[in-house]
Amino acid sequence: MPAVSFQGVAKTYQGARGTLRALDGVSFDIAEGEFFGLLGPNGAGKTTLISVLAGLGRATEGCVTVMGHDVVSDYPAARRALGLVPQELVFDPFFSVRETLRIQSGYFGVRGNEAWIDELLQGLGLADKAHANMRQLSGGMKRRVLVAQALVHKPPVIVLDEPTAGVDVELRQTLWQFVAQLNKQGSTVLLTTHYLEEAEALCGRIAMLKAGKVVALDRTANLLAAASGSVLRFKTDDALPPHLAEHARITGRMVQIRTKDAQAVETMLAKLREANVRIEDLEIGRADLEEVFLSIMQAPSSPRTGTAQEVLA
Ligand SMILES: Nc1ncnc2c1ncn2[C@@H]1O[C@H](COP(=O)(O)OP(=O)(O)OP(=O)(O)O)[C@@H](O)[C@H]1O
Ligand SMILES: [Mg+2]
Repeated sequence: MPAVSFQGVAKTYQGARGTLRALDGVSFDIAEGEFFGLLGPNGAGKTTLISVLAGLGRATEGCVTVMGHDVVSDYPAARRALGLVPQELVFDPFFSVRETLRIQSGYFGVRGNEAWIDELLQGLGLADKAHANMRQLSGGMKRRVLVAQALVHKPPVIVLDEPTAGVDVELRQTLWQFVAQLNKQGSTVLLTTHYLEEAEALCGRIAMLKAGKVVALDRTANLLAAASGSVLRFKTDDALPPHLAEHARITGRMVQIRTKDAQAVETMLAKLREANVRIEDLEIGRADLEEVFLSIMQAPSSPRTGTAQEVLA
């Protein structure tokens, strides 16, 4: 039995400008014990898919289960099997951190879990904030409480919707240590993030969503291996001519250009010289997940699962 199963999931929203198909036939399973990444640009449908999984929104078509429980017909069991860290920060400002965690436990009918609450507070660096009111916490600390809240009933499946958006390096490390440990102990983890280096480091398998469709789904190692080319990275004060800029990722002075092989690197350098682009701090590196992600997202839209090889070729 998979920990999570999506079968033909579609979700449409009715808006002023007609019907928006936010999810369009999403099907995949997450096995028990996996650390699974769900990636995609803003508006791809990640949060919508997670809302359907957590029973916060209903799918227009398809079927979703958590630990074998259908999220509609067997909602209470499916919801209990899930710990959700939502993308948006929502709290009752008048409760303390500990009260918030007790209330959440009560919601799931869990009692006498003070030892686990202490462990969560400790593990997430909240021990000295246990009695602080929610409104007195900084944004990053509130996010830690959201994580603790999701875990308070010890769910077998943990879903994190951009848990590290806007949090400092220290919390990210604490959080990942904590979640990785739970995963090692058997918890299934589903993560969405825009920090692709996090996904690359943590996730064994990754699905990429684009406009509500799965456009890539594979082991992280395979996705990376498919991008066998090299990346040329350099700095420049000169503008690249359009025919070169078209293939480049430009961040301020930093330019990255994907190339197929060593020969292509030489050709590209010759073209840059020809265009009078002066290059500083040149490096040639391997393609990372960000490169893979960008090439898949830029490829013409067609649903694709199994391998990213063709998309990246
Ligand atoms: N309640 C809603 N009503 C109407 N449209 C919605 C609603 N919620 C989401 N959408 C639309 O559905 C699409 C998918 O949104 P969703 O929040 O799932 O994206 P996302 O992948 O989570 O993006 P992000 O990375 O920005 O969090 C978007 O076009 C969004 O505008
Ligand atoms: Mg989202």
